[in-house]
Amino acid sequence: MRSLFILYIGFSSLAFGEQIKVDDLYSKNCSGCHGAKFEGGQGGSLVDGQWKNGSTDKDIYQSIAKGNPQLGMTPWEGTLNNDQIRALVIFLREKEKQHLTQGMSFPTPSPDKVTKTELHDYRIETIIDQGLKNPWAIAFLPDGRKLITEKAGRLRIITSDGKLDPVAIEGTPPVIEHGQGGMMEVALHPDYPTNGWVYLGISDGTREKGASGKDKVRCITAVVRGKIKDHQWTSQEWIYRPDPKFRSGAGVHFGTRFVFDKGYIYFVVGERGGLMEAQNLSLPNGKIHRLFDDGRVPSDNPFVKTPDAIPSIWSYGHRNPQGLTMDRRDGSLYDTEHGPRGGDEVNRIKPGSNYGWPVITYGMNYNGTPMVSITEKDGMEQPLTYWVPSIAPSGLDFYNGDQFPKWQNDLFAGALAQQEIRRIHLVDQKVVSQEIILKNIGRVRDVATGPDGFLYVILNDPDRLIRLVPAEN
Ligand code: HEC
Repeated sequence: MRSLFILYIGFSSLAFGEQIKVDDLYSKNCSGCHGAKFEGGQGGSLVDGQWKNGSTDKDIYQSIAKGNPQLGMTPWEGTLNNDQIRALVIFLREKEKQHLTQGMSFPTPSPDKVTKTELHDYRIETIIDQGLKNPWAIAFLPDGRKLITEKAGRLRIITSDGKLDPVAIEGTPPVIEHGQGGMMEVALHPDYPTNGWVYLGISDGTREKGASGKDKVRCITAVVRGKIKDHQWTSQEWIYRPDPKFRSGAGVHFGTRFVFDKGYIYFVVGERGGLMEAQNLSLPNGKIHRLFDDGRVPSDNPFVKTPDAIPSIWSYGHRNPQGLTMDRRDGSLYDTEHGPRGGDEVNRIKPGSNYGWPVITYGMNYNGTPMVSITEKDGMEQPLTYWVPSIAPSGLDFYNGDQFPKWQNDLFAGALAQQEIRRIHLVDQKVVSQEIILKNIGRVRDVATGPDGFLYVILNDPDRLIRLVPAEN
């Protein structure tokens, strides 16, 4: 598979030569008639939301590929390749969205005012705004305290009266803070009150001084559990620690996030920039895994009998899921994952299924070069919904508290780049509507229903913990 991957890269660069960026494709081939700002000229506006020849991605693809020579629109299919036409569709979608939302300002939530949303009005309460550094995830202890991870490798306590304990938990496993990786997920075992297990998702590996003086890092996502006695991490056990041969130097796409259910733990290992490696069942990256919560492999996992496959794999073809949660009504598992530029996804995770990365995607490369033209393929799952432009999805949770009754069983998805929280309403396991309920107060890293029914939010830049409480309170 590794050699196939090299072939694949080699083939695409051979076939298409130097990749032209989509902005350049547009300005060279299209702006003469459609305007430098997409506002229209000889050809119509491409950002006003009006599409005479059909408004789906497929229609727009066809409009570009087939053109309309009689009316003066060039057919581009001989000149541009499929990937380039597809990248232009994504690009026009981004521009259309930017244009249509320009000047639409979401009221910035602040502690001294009420923020109105479709179903509930809320206030924000700041719990911690000093002393946290790159907080990543939150877990709620039964005694009212909270645990928060910091990316650099510290596990912090928030006391039951809402103060940040200045002393971090001592003796937690060392983490390799590298790019997006470090100490990430924290979650309690469902039977925590009796067994005391706390689970951490970390970037595990080695950091050595290389010959050039530059650090040489090798790491991968791992899952470890332990117990907290006073301020000490004790009784540590590895739940999932991949063979060191799977570690990589890449600083991207670590995944993590845990879901516990019926004695199992589900967790994510991001694809680490390995693209086609997400399709390779003999590698752990780009996969959602399932183990018993003590680390044993369930004998009914989908690939336990597949030669060379990693037996903990539950689903594959994932890029970088950083949201994972379960609908407790029917046991369905959902993820949100970062696509490339455009193409962030919400998926319902089914055992043994292939979610398609990087063979199919609704996105293109970050630098604006085209990726692939296909968004669907037999044997690969479609997302429930996708976001172009990207929102950069992070923590994900079903709301199941009692403070916001009309939000019951809706999905709340945090977003880093778009600095927002989306409420996603599902009916019969399908996304039927979405609403932005919070925006513009920082990068949203984690969203979680608290045992008190308030919606807790971890923000980065600036780093803090807030919660949403009903406006009536
Ligand atoms: C020579 C002028 C010209 C150039 C160059 C041109 N277009 Fe067009 N385009 C037109 C005209 C005129 C129409 C309207 C045709 C019609 O009414 O069906 C059109 C229609 C379209 C439509 C359909 C719009 C709708 O409302 O359904 C799309 C999409 C589009 N062009 C994209 C592009 C892209 C992308 C490029 C560059 C790769 C491009 N065009 C280059 C003139 C041009």
